[in-house]
Amino acid sequence: MPASSLEQIVSLAKRRGFVFPSSAIYGGLGSTWDYGPLGVELKNNVKRAWWRAVVYDRDDMEGLDAAILMNRLVWRYSGHERTFSDPMTDCRKCKARHRADQLYKASTGDEYTNVDIFNAAAQAKKLKCPKCGETDLTDARPFNLMFKTTVGPVDTGDDSGLAYLRPETAQGIFVNFGNVLDTMRRKLPFGVAQIGKAFRNEITPGNFTFRTREFEQMEIEYFVKPGEDEAAHQAWIDARTKWYTDLGLRPENLRQREQTEDELAHYAKRCVDLEYRFPMGWSELEGIANRTDFDLKAHSRSPENPDAVGELRYFDQEKKQHIVPYVIEPSAGADRATLAFLCDAYDESLVKEPPAEESAKLRDLVQSFAKSVEKRDAKALEPAVKERLLAAAERIAAGLPGTLPDLLGLAEDADANRIEVFKKVRGAAEKLGEEHTRTVLRLHPRLAPITVAVFPLKKNEPRLVETARAIKRDLQAAGLRAVYDDTGAIGKLYRRQDEVGTPFCITVDFQSLDDQTVTVRDRDTMAQERVRTGDLAAGLRAKLG
Ligand code: GAP
Repeated sequence: MPASSLEQIVSLAKRRGFVFPSSAIYGGLGSTWDYGPLGVELKNNVKRAWWRAVVYDRDDMEGLDAAILMNRLVWRYSGHERTFSDPMTDCRKCKARHRADQLYKASTGDEYTNVDIFNAAAQAKKLKCPKCGETDLTDARPFNLMFKTTVGPVDTGDDSGLAYLRPETAQGIFVNFGNVLDTMRRKLPFGVAQIGKAFRNEITPGNFTFRTREFEQMEIEYFVKPGEDEAAHQAWIDARTKWYTDLGLRPENLRQREQTEDELAHYAKRCVDLEYRFPMGWSELEGIANRTDFDLKAHSRSPENPDAVGELRYFDQEKKQHIVPYVIEPSAGADRATLAFLCDAYDESLVKEPPAEESAKLRDLVQSFAKSVEKRDAKALEPAVKERLLAAAERIAAGLPGTLPDLLGLAEDADANRIEVFKKVRGAAEKLGEEHTRTVLRLHPRLAPITVAVFPLKKNEPRLVETARAIKRDLQAAGLRAVYDDTGAIGKLYRRQDEVGTPFCITVDFQSLDDQTVTVRDRDTMAQERVRTGDLAAGLRAKLG
């Protein structure tokens, strides 16, 4: 089963070196994360797979790496200075700050459309603070999401050195449209791809790496002749959907959602969000918008833009005139994609039935946990949390031992851990889980942080160690991410590699010394085959696809 709670992923990510809370030694910095040794490999592989699919595998794309700091005017004429803001409200009682649109939807069930409807509802005391439950909320006001900084050694106190950390990579592509067009001698349609950091002072970051203030985008601006935009848009929607499923995302966990008229940005003609079923619910993974000619026009010299020194346009040889191309924008998040691949690949399953009496003991503990939850009043436990924990406990108790993996998921749940008796449930579940369950990250081999791990059957047998180390070196030299490990028995080493998604493990045994063959064990089927050492690199590379 894929991850049932985000906490399972957070826990695995921290335990196995994928993602750490940032600056933890100083108490951290809210919602900022550092990618650890395995996380950086995974995210690099996601970015590499994207670049390969959208630049190398096509004939109509170029790459770009624009600066994070840009002339402030870029953000004036893109519209970000004026409009890139979220409506925000404060609770006068508990001082918590919330996104007004999210609070409105959670409180009323209706879509938020504008500040006025929020303010009317807040003044009528119809909206509740999600933190303390009071109805004393301020009017909503816009909060600009761009981080400011100062360029140059002296802060003059006025705005002369003001610059922003870019809130999207897209504008770097628009303002380079002419450079790419001229230097690469492109004809329409063609696109430009870019991967890079973006920064937004989000009011409500959260859900692990899903929404953070510093993140990485993978954006494409695809330029087409007006009139050819709708077909190109649909082609990109299809291509981007296929990219995720080709890399292993389960189709049932991915959907396309058409943005409604109300949601569409002012420049967009149509926008389709690709959404993934994260443990916290369906959420945006990527937006694919038809931005029309808005951006290229906005950055071109005109009566509305006297600051630009040129025009961003294209000479149409057929029509013998200049035109402003339309733009299709598939805009993805590298961190969100990485998180989605992690959640989807997570698989915890029962591999061995525990003794009946152990399962019965665990069932009793889960039932007493359910009783303890049942007894809590609304002050001690929010009703929605109570309902969720009760439903989970009842379902798990009825299905044990088959539901042991779900119980291990619940063991990471922060709310469950607030209940004292849950400590016992957790301890017993983890003990039983150690022996009877298996955690595997079923990542696509091309995304896995480590492609192949090499073990000697015995670490105190120099000839096995030497051969295993030589195989690791050869595989690495052949361009495969390989590691050597001899820090445990083979079964334990397999288990560790399964947990981080390594698709292939090689064991060097005594037979290897005689016939130059090794066993290659497949993570998913657990099948083992003997392969000649000379054929390893080519065989593994073929499996990467
Ligand atoms: N240029 C268009 C644009 O930036 P967006 O929907 O604001 O559109 C595109 O962002 C993608 O960037 C999102 O689908 C998401 O994957 C990622 N993204 C946006 N804000 C993010 C945040 N605060 N944290 C992590 N990823 C984010």
